[in-house]
Amino acid sequence: MIKELEQWHYQEEIDSIKTPQEWEVVNVSLLGRRGKLNQLFQKLKDLPEKERKQAGQRLNQIKREIINLLEAKKKEIDERKKSIFVDPTLPGRKYPQGTLHPLTYVIEEIVSIFSSLGFIRVSYPEVEWEYFSFEALNMPKGHPARDDFETFFIDFPEDKNYGRMLLSPHTSSGQNREMKRVKPPIRMINIAKTYRPNWDATHTPMFHQFEGLCIDRNINVTHLKGTIDYFVKRFFGDKRTIRLRPAHFRFTEPSFEIDVSCGVCQGQESQREKCRVCKSGWLELAGAGMVHPNVLRAGGINPHEYSGWAFGFGPERCMMMREEMKIEDIRILYSGDVRFLERF
Ligand code: DAH
Repeated sequence: MIKELEQWHYQEEIDSIKTPQEWEVVNVSLLGRRGKLNQLFQKLKDLPEKERKQAGQRLNQIKREIINLLEAKKKEIDERKKSIFVDPTLPGRKYPQGTLHPLTYVIEEIVSIFSSLGFIRVSYPEVEWEYFSFEALNMPKGHPARDDFETFFIDFPEDKNYGRMLLSPHTSSGQNREMKRVKPPIRMINIAKTYRPNWDATHTPMFHQFEGLCIDRNINVTHLKGTIDYFVKRFFGDKRTIRLRPAHFRFTEPSFEIDVSCGVCQGQESQREKCRVCKSGWLELAGAGMVHPNVLRAGGINPHEYSGWAFGFGPERCMMMREEMKIEDIRILYSGDVRFLERF
C-alpha cells in the first residue's frame, strides 16, 4: 500500500487541469464519495496493524496535500477567467431552430381553406377495422376492388362484425364513422396518415390523404365541382382550373378523377405538349364522386332523402404540384434530413 501511495501521480493530474469543467471532474474523481481517496481509506482496514498505521498517516497527509493543490488550482483558474477580455457587444451565437414539417404547414392551410366553407376537421383511427375501410364502402369481402388498396393487416384477433384490423389504407374509412357520429347535414374534412406497402421513388409506405364528405338534401355534382374549384383557386392560384374525367370507385357513383390545369404551361395549346411538367396541360389531382347509395345506407342515411359527394386528395402531391418541386425521390420528405427540411 505504501508503495502504491508513493507511485500515485496526483500532483501531475491536478497540474494538468485547464478549465473549470476539468477541475470539477478531477475534484470528484479524487475527493468524491466514490473517489480514489475514499477507496484507499476503505482498503486500510484490510492491512496488518503495523502497516495500517503508517499507511493511514501517509494517506491523511496526501489528502491535505490534494485539498491544498486543488484549492490553489481553483484560484489560478478564477484569476485567469477574470483576465480574459469579454466583448459583450459581439452578436450572440445563433442556435439552430427547428420548424414544423413542410407538410404540416400544407395541412394547416388545407384545413383553413375548407373550414372557411364550413367543413369540420375530424380524425379517425389510423389502426382501423376492415369493415370501415371496405364493407362500409361497398366493397364486400372478397371483392377484387379491395386489391387496389394493398393493405397492411395487423396480427390481432378478428372481430365477428368488423373483421380484421389494419393500418388504414385510405381516409375514406372516415366516411362511415362520420355518418354514424353526426346526422346530416355533414361537412367533413378528414386528414390523416394512410398506409400501403410501397417503397420507391414515388411512394412511401406512410403518406397522407384528405377526404372531403358533404351530405345534405339535394346535393349534386355542381356542389362538388364548385367546392373543388374554390379549393384549387385558393391553394394553387386564381388562374388554375379543374376538369372532371369519368372514373370508377366502388364507393361513388358516378365517379371522377379530378385534374388541375398545369401551372407551368397554363394548359396553353401551343405549349402543353412540350411542357416538362405535364405534357398534356393537366395534372392528376384526386378521386371523387357522388356517394354511392349503399355507402349512405351503411351509414344509416336514407339515400332517397339525402345525397352527397366525397373526394380524396394527397396533400404530398398537392404540395409538390404547387411548389413545382421536382423531387427526384419523394422518400426525402420523411427522411428527417435537416438540409432538405430547412428549405421550407
Ligand atoms: N380512397 C381513394 C383512394 O385512396 C380516393 C377517393 C376516391 C376518395 C374517390 C373518395 C372518392 O372519397 O370519392 O384512392
